[in-house]
Amino acid sequence: MKFTKESDIEMLLKDGLLEPLNRQVTNEFHAHTQYVAIATYFDDQGLPELAGHFYKQSEEERAHAMKFVRYILDAGARPTISGIPDIKNDFSSASEAVKFALDQELKVTEQINDLVRLAIEKSDYTTHTFLQWFVTEQVEEVSSMSNLLQIIKHAGNSLLLVEDYVRRQGGAGRGGDSSST
Ligand SMILES: [Fe+2]
Ligand SMILES: [Fe+2]
Repeated sequence: MKFTKESDIEMLLKDGLLEPLNRQVTNEFHAHTQYVAIATYFDDQGLPELAGHFYKQSEEERAHAMKFVRYILDAGARPTISGIPDIKNDFSSASEAVKFALDQELKVTEQINDLVRLAIEKSDYTTHTFLQWFVTEQVEEVSSMSNLLQIIKHAGNSLLLVEDYVRRQGGAGRGGDSSST
């Protein structure tokens, strides 16, 4: 979609929406990078299914970031790509790593809800509609991460049981190679 007149652009992206949408691009890239870090933690621990699961999640987060980038461009504005703030690489246990991932999903859910609230406040129904996909996606992401955390707690020290569970869920990619998934 191309807009040549400024008035057309204003019609599509209401004032005050560009900066928060840009911030969400960074938030999704942050989630992407954080999941690569969690995946490499599991890879290093010799847990390929959990590693594959998080490599795959990381690819999904990258796709989320790109959805926001695409939307901003389609709305006739220019996205700003920023650096990624602190990434946590060290975890003392599998449950700490997955709890960290769950907290991240809860935080992103709040970020999406804030964007929805803003879109309503500004009567930006185009952005509101665009965000609905993310509202639904976050329910699934929080639920699946919280299931994984429960499984890890039930398995206690037997992380091979968790590996088996993740394998049976069919969720794992291999070694960060998203082309095979
Ligand atoms: Fe995301
Ligand atoms: Fe996510």
